[in-house]
Amino acid sequence: MAQIGYSKKVMEHFMNPRNVGVIENPDGYGQVGNPVCGDLMEIFITVKEDRVDDIKFRTFGCGSAIAVSSMVTEMARGRTLDEAMLITRKDVADELDGLPPQKMHCSNLGADALHAAIKNYWVKIGKIKPEEAAPEEGEEGESCGR
Ligand code: FES
Repeated sequence: MAQIGYSKKVMEHFMNPRNVGVIENPDGYGQVGNPVCGDLMEIFITVKEDRVDDIKFRTFGCGSAIAVSSMVTEMARGRTLDEAMLITRKDVADELDGLPPQKMHCSNLGADALHAAIKNYWVKIGKIKPEEAAPEEGEEGESCGR
């Protein structure tokens, strides 16, 4: 089988993903889907003193999506919500030492679900209006390649 060049970090997070699971009654919940492959990502957060206190994810995604979500949960934990909102899709991919080009779009799910969970919390506490929590438009609309 052709080797498409997954980094060691991607493989490590794929084999041993962090923060898998569900938080009952989370402060924030985000769900995003990839319209092309139908992959789905959910992120649950609890918030303490304006920081991400606990975070878990669940995904029906590919191996890259699993590695990305594992990494994004590690990156977000302990950060203020404003800081966590600044974590971009590219930051996650960079932190994993890159993803194969045809898998770059998989990194979208992690950051987008994180942002959706934070916005969900902000709507609950009245910081933003529900219409401001609309999902982010995909920057690139390419397919999953599978
Ligand atoms: Fe669809 Fe990775 S998220 S193939």
